[in-house]
Amino acid sequence: MSLLPILRFPDPRLQKRAAPVTKIDDSIRRLAADMAETMYEAPGIGLAATQVDVHKRVVVIDVSEEKNALRVFVNPELVDQAGLTVGEEGCLSVPGIYDKVERAERVTVRYLDLDGKPQELQAEGLLAVCIQHEIDHLNGKVFVDHLSQLKQMRIRSKLAKQARVTA
Ligand code: NI
Repeated sequence: MSLLPILRFPDPRLQKRAAPVTKIDDSIRRLAADMAETMYEAPGIGLAATQVDVHKRVVVIDVSEEKNALRVFVNPELVDQAGLTVGEEGCLSVPGIYDKVERAERVTVRYLDLDGKPQELQAEGLLAVCIQHEIDHLNGKVFVDHLSQLKQMRIRSKLAKQARVTA
């Protein structure tokens, strides 16, 4: 396994729409393993392939305290959503920035597992929010896109300053 570099907002590659995975083979299983390692190392609770510049519909999530409940979603699709919740979100591609985003409170997601079997999961709370956040990434959207234009401008200038300091 290996750690993958994470794209940082406002990198335009974060706006690419990921393509569905047509065949789940060892390259996809390896990608998922590398993404999981990268997520745990960061550390984060979710990562979409888009964030490591692979534009395929693969997401890894682990919202457990113990970091022992890895979930891999291939071609995830929201088939149902209900309720509304507002929570503070962050993102490994937008380091140091946290803000409130409105999401569905409960979702049903259909996806393929790493054996290529169709699965359906009902999720709520943090897991539901994380699933929506990561599917956004696959559609070329970052949580910042949910914020006001003014906030987006402030975040861009803050991150540009950070990049100058660390470069
Ligand atoms: Ni993110």
